[in-house]
Amino acid sequence: MAGLPYIVGNWKMNGTRAMLNEARAIDRSAQRFPKVQVGLAPPSTLIFRMRDAVELIGVGGQDCHAKENGAYTGDVSAPMLKDAGADFTIVGHSERREYHGESDADVNAKAQAALSAGLAVILCVGETEAQRDAGDAEGVVTAQLEGSCPIADGAPEKLSVAYEPVWAIGTGRVPSVADVAAMHKAIRAKLVAIYGDAGAEVRILYGGSVKADNAAELLAVPDVGGALVGGASLTAESFLAIVGAAA
Ligand code: G3H
Repeated sequence: MAGLPYIVGNWKMNGTRAMLNEARAIDRSAQRFPKVQVGLAPPSTLIFRMRDAVELIGVGGQDCHAKENGAYTGDVSAPMLKDAGADFTIVGHSERREYHGESDADVNAKAQAALSAGLAVILCVGETEAQRDAGDAEGVVTAQLEGSCPIADGAPEKLSVAYEPVWAIGTGRVPSVADVAAMHKAIRAKLVAIYGDAGAEVRILYGGSVKADNAAELLAVPDVGGALVGGASLTAESFLAIVGAAA
């Protein structure tokens, strides 16, 4: 797997201008960790200002529409994210899949749109607790990859996959190291099946209740190339502790 460990904070629907101070503090400290790639995905309202507030870290969207523009009230397109200064966007987060009914086909279209706009993509996949209990976790996740991975020239080079078990998000629960290792191995095999050799280089992040006290253990798992962090990315102190664990 190529590249530096990648630690991305997803602020979800949190943050007004005052929180840019946290982004500035994260950015200032990022120079202490040159061997870690750091990104923050604030709400769309803050992307433009965050772009101006930081120098070292990447700035991203949390979602994008599949179309470039049009009558889609409330939505934001990939070219708009790019224009606001974004480097990447998350697509397919389970909260989008659950609360906005997004299918794998929708996520695929969004990922393709993001790549066309020149954005890198973090594509989220993950099973529910019921699916894991039924023994279907790997089948669900590999089917999500099959249905949502973008296929375009250069796609794997600009893609990261985030494995986020739905039941681990915001709950304080995390899968065992053995379960994370098994799932990341299955994801890797699927990425190689989809992209050939280039699939071996796609970074696979783990997300779901990553905190300072479990980050080092999770990041040491084979094929875990970084973390997608929600709650613990909302303050510089807690997020930088995770960045430090990746260094
Ligand atoms: O995008 C981030 C994930 O949903 C993880 O959120 O760290 O609050 O569990 P969490």
